[in-house]
Amino acid sequence: MTMSEMSDALDKIEEQGMREVTAASTIPEVDSCRVRLLGKKGTLTALLSGMKDLTADDRPLAGKAVNELKAKLQKWIDQRTEEISLREEARRLQDEKVDITLPGRRRHAGRLHPITQTFQRIQEIFIGLGFRIAEGPEVEEDYYNFEALNIPRDHPARDMQDTFYITDDILLRTHTSPVQIRTMKSQPPPIRIIAPGKVYRCDADISHTPMFHQVEGLMVDRRVTFGDLKGVLGFFLHQIFGKNIGIRFRPSFFPFTEPSAEVDIACVMCKGKGCRVCKQTGWLEIMGAGMVDPEVFRMVGYDPHEVTGFAFGMGVERIAMLRYRIDDIRLFFENDLRFLSQF
Ligand code: FA5
Ligand code: MG
Repeated sequence: MTMSEMSDALDKIEEQGMREVTAASTIPEVDSCRVRLLGKKGTLTALLSGMKDLTADDRPLAGKAVNELKAKLQKWIDQRTEEISLREEARRLQDEKVDITLPGRRRHAGRLHPITQTFQRIQEIFIGLGFRIAEGPEVEEDYYNFEALNIPRDHPARDMQDTFYITDDILLRTHTSPVQIRTMKSQPPPIRIIAPGKVYRCDADISHTPMFHQVEGLMVDRRVTFGDLKGVLGFFLHQIFGKNIGIRFRPSFFPFTEPSAEVDIACVMCKGKGCRVCKQTGWLEIMGAGMVDPEVFRMVGYDPHEVTGFAFGMGVERIAMLRYRIDDIRLFFENDLRFLSQF
């Protein structure tokens, strides 16, 4: 190789280097340029092996030219690397920018189910009257749900409630009244309890669901009268519905109370004119009540000559329907948030 060939080769590498480094647009691309130009097997290194053919005079000149080119290429590569990193950093900052003016994600607060709210209100009122809370199982024995409440197996009153039986003797309780029996069997009088809970009946329309809630009440002591029953329930109903609500005690029958009554509230949907909720009667039945039958006292071992008492069992959904003017009981159990979020 002659000196002029060497110069041509260097010019070519310079021109190639300039083109390739300028064209590189990522850090890995610049790196591979560097390997191609300056690496151990790179173009410039290859050229050095041609140096041995040069004359002794030319060799230092060529060496100097190679080193200058090497420095130049290195400078371009460094500059290009710097440019690319700055550009990539700028792009990253742009991409990851947080727009602090965007609205945040809203978290919706949960609410208590209207039935739970009604339960709580009912309990509050009775606790204020000195009642305490009692409980019993939802899967109940026939004995507590029926027998001990003076409803023997062949009694026609069993047809008043469509029962879900599990076995001949085990059933889903059809009312909270078995808690009366459990409570009286576990302690002597006096008694003043309410028993809130779920009950089950094979029943479904706009005012009946197969699972619903009741609150049972029981007060037993010496000389408890029907007047006490009316006083307590009247006070309760005025607390929960306000003074202007229409209340009606209607004679009725339950095997475990004598005398018995059902309590109706003037339908708030139609103000007593008659609508589909009250089945055109103007009234909605919300509870059964009465004086504890002496037969029940005998069954639990209380002396009916010593004590008297009253009991009641109210439908919580019915009370919630009236409180919130809801015209279909099934809305409570569909769990539609558009409905639930209104309470
Ligand atoms: C009873 O369940 C008696 N145990 C109540 C009682 C207790 C009387 C203590 C005397 C002494 P009844 O079957 O009428 O009675 O039900 C009571 C209330 O539960 C009804 O007034 C009504 O408000 C509600 N209810 C009854 N069936 C359903 C149903 N399928 N869906 C929603 N509410 C109902
Ligand atoms: Mg009834």
